[in-house]
Amino acid sequence: MPFKKKTIPQKEPAPKKVLTEEPKKDLDEEGEGKSGKTFELLRGFRDILPEDQGRWNLVRDTIRSIAESYSFDRIDLPILERSDLFQRTIGKGTDIVEKEMYVFTDPSNRSVALRPEATASAARAYISHGMLDRPQPVKMWYLGPMFRHDRPQAGRYRQFYQAGFESFGVDESIVDAQLIVIGHQIFKQLGLDVKVEINSIGTAECRAAYLTELVAYFRQHRAKLSEDDKRRLQKNPLRILDSKEEVTRELLQGAPQILDWLDEKSKEHFMKVLEFLEEVEVPYVLNPYLVRGLDYYTHSVFEFVQADDTGDGAQSALGGGGRYDGLVEILGGRSTPACGFALGLERIVRALEAKGINPPERPPARVFFAQLGDASRRVGLKLFEEFRQAGIPVAEAFGKNALKGQLETANKLGVELTLILGQKEVLDGTIIIRDMESGAQEIVDVKKVVGLVKKKLYQEEGVEPVSHSPVVDS
Ligand code: HAM
Repeated sequence: MPFKKKTIPQKEPAPKKVLTEEPKKDLDEEGEGKSGKTFELLRGFRDILPEDQGRWNLVRDTIRSIAESYSFDRIDLPILERSDLFQRTIGKGTDIVEKEMYVFTDPSNRSVALRPEATASAARAYISHGMLDRPQPVKMWYLGPMFRHDRPQAGRYRQFYQAGFESFGVDESIVDAQLIVIGHQIFKQLGLDVKVEINSIGTAECRAAYLTELVAYFRQHRAKLSEDDKRRLQKNPLRILDSKEEVTRELLQGAPQILDWLDEKSKEHFMKVLEFLEEVEVPYVLNPYLVRGLDYYTHSVFEFVQADDTGDGAQSALGGGGRYDGLVEILGGRSTPACGFALGLERIVRALEAKGINPPERPPARVFFAQLGDASRRVGLKLFEEFRQAGIPVAEAFGKNALKGQLETANKLGVELTLILGQKEVLDGTIIIRDMESGAQEIVDVKKVVGLVKKKLYQEEGVEPVSHSPVVDS
């Protein structure tokens, strides 16, 4: 049956709208546009653009090569975990658990969380894969995104990348010291000047005695404290040492110090860590107020702080860590000493940017392939693969037709040679090599072009290109 054309009843033309004010954007409580035609990023989330990948690759590659040279094995942990994994280990009274976790109920009605950090996950993996029965220490490293719903600011995001190092199974001070050395080496290799701040918060027992003293001291001055610090005093008194309030910082000068409350074993452990650092000439600064924002720490805690602070108010801790001897047991495993640290990659990349360090994302092309028509594109596709396998970076503009436009692109890219393949050359089995500086052109056998280009570009320099050909077992 033929379709019947529907007739649309004629309507009065709608009166033209006169805009008297800017159209109001539908904003949510975070100030993000909800009804715009384009999608905007969520606050605190960002894209890492192709032009920034050079710096990111430098950081990732440096971390990977140092991790391997210290015999750390890579582990990849899930981004989503049961929410109580973090609640139980990071601590109920901490900012992360109280305010910053992305917690939701999954379709199986289970409470899950986007990981705010990965130490708890690493400890979970250590237990669930029976790593206690492997030779100790078990040394693992990871790199991936973490999520904290904190107030975004320079160097603080809601999704950020961490690279972490965790060493399980050995309680010796040398483990703490070597982890600090590893962090220090990473920054040194990246050319960043970083200060190590260090403290010891001892065992849970000596900390309990210290906290009684600390709370008693601050109670005398309670009236002077901000509401936030009063809350800290009640909920998580150790965090008062971290306060940014000026009054509190002044009061801290007369407050009892944790180092005076360490038992003999904790003191000895800490002194040894410092001695090892002196031995390998890693400069450190004792910071008696350094406590860190996670509850699982015992003994050494440390941070890598940017020495040449950019002064833009950005977060200056590029990394942090410490010993966490009780964590595996909290998660139901056998008592296992452990120590580790994590670095904040956005902050490191930012520091590199401030120093003007931006390595190229990949080696620039030295050869351009110009084609004229489909027959030459077909040969070009194959040729392109041969160049790639020989490790010679070639650029192309397969989408362009005219030679002029392609040569302009080649010029813009600053390549040394352009290969020109027209209809005639395809029929003859030849190709033109054009020297972009002198403009001289020669016609060569297409089968020999890869070898000839290699000779021209690399033999004079006395280096070999990096081959990308797959390794085949003979
Ligand atoms: P953390 O101090 O919470 O420790 O984080 C480590 C590093 O991650 C920080 O020093 C900082 O560079 C970066 N970072 C933290 N939060 C943000 C954020 N919102 N935006 C950008 N960067 C951030 C931990 O996470 C522990 N798991 C470290 C550890 C490993 N301890 C023992 N092993």
